[in-house]
Amino acid sequence: MSIREIKKGIHFVGAIDWDRRLFDELIPLPDGTSYNAYLIQGETRTALIDTVDPTKENELVSNLKELNIEKIDYIIPNHAEQDHSGVIPKILEIYPNSKVVTNLKCKEFLKDLLLIPDEKFQVVNDKDTLSLGDKTLEFIIAPWVHWPETMLTYLHEDKILFPCDLFGSHLATSDLYARDEAKVYESAKRYYAEIMMPFRNNIKKHIDKLNNYEIEIIASSHGPIYEKPEFILNAYRDWISDDVKNEVVLPYVSMHGSTQKMVQYFIDELMKRNITVKPFNLPRTDIGELAIALVDTATVVLATPTVLVGPHPSAVYATYLLNALRPKVKFVSVIGSYSWGGKMLEQIKGMLTNINTEIIEPVIIKGYPGENDFKALNKLADDIFKKHKEIKII
Ligand code: FEO
Repeated sequence: MSIREIKKGIHFVGAIDWDRRLFDELIPLPDGTSYNAYLIQGETRTALIDTVDPTKENELVSNLKELNIEKIDYIIPNHAEQDHSGVIPKILEIYPNSKVVTNLKCKEFLKDLLLIPDEKFQVVNDKDTLSLGDKTLEFIIAPWVHWPETMLTYLHEDKILFPCDLFGSHLATSDLYARDEAKVYESAKRYYAEIMMPFRNNIKKHIDKLNNYEIEIIASSHGPIYEKPEFILNAYRDWISDDVKNEVVLPYVSMHGSTQKMVQYFIDELMKRNITVKPFNLPRTDIGELAIALVDTATVVLATPTVLVGPHPSAVYATYLLNALRPKVKFVSVIGSYSWGGKMLEQIKGMLTNINTEIIEPVIIKGYPGENDFKALNKLADDIFKKHKEIKII
């Protein structure tokens, strides 16, 4: 049971998942997560905002039972992904007169994903309102704050924004509110990096729209609630801005030590030029840590040996993530070694189709690095230094 009252008639009825360590069989969750569902009881109507992951169905159902909830008029999915919508069929079974209130795209997704019948839905559009008697919900259509059907729900009288995934954090904590700001910041940045970063430009527009609303609480559907909205809004403004740091993120892998030697030398050269360098030994890296580093770095240098004429598979994975997560990185380069040739560089360049970045002259060498190779690495460090001087660095 993790019921908590946020304000009179507004309860957290979701579930904390202390043990989950992987999301989508992809994203590491070092601190677990939560699936936040919110029950809003107005004078005449009751609404449930989002549900929980199907693995936590019993907890949501028990929470509603404990609160003696006899009717739910509206189930409001802000997002169709199953970690929030997966228990809607069960809620409809228990409360058969409920209507699922959402936008048209979300309705179509829920029909496909959860086989919810058409007649159960009530479709809303941007800025539509729904009265619960003394409480009024407004729907803000905000596509691509994860999926294309996402929306936010704003509770006017209590000035609470329910943005589902947006502003969330994968953090299991007994704190209802984000009181440990350092920890929440780290978790929220990881969440942003892994989930939201590809949608940076959409988020900019949505945050501008939110300036029209007086917001006292942001209650996302993962992690603790923000009673100081500016804390997370300012963090997002920083992350989605075009500003980058005087940093080089250096994902690397080495098989027999040649690339490793280049990496060690290159790290020192960057440090001599007062450039912060963040190396990630890929076979031992938590990809969430790498994603966080990508949020505001100016440059990424991939370091890889050649395997079967291409990059090492660990470097392929890192390149894929770099391309998929679309960070605001300004410059990319590659360093690495080969024994008898290959198309490693061409393959890496061919994968970077989504990011608008300048490729700085790579350093690809034959065998173990020698004097001329170290000179080439010096030049690459010089090039990066000069490029960073030419752009706005924070
Ligand atoms: Fe938390 Fe996109 O689901």
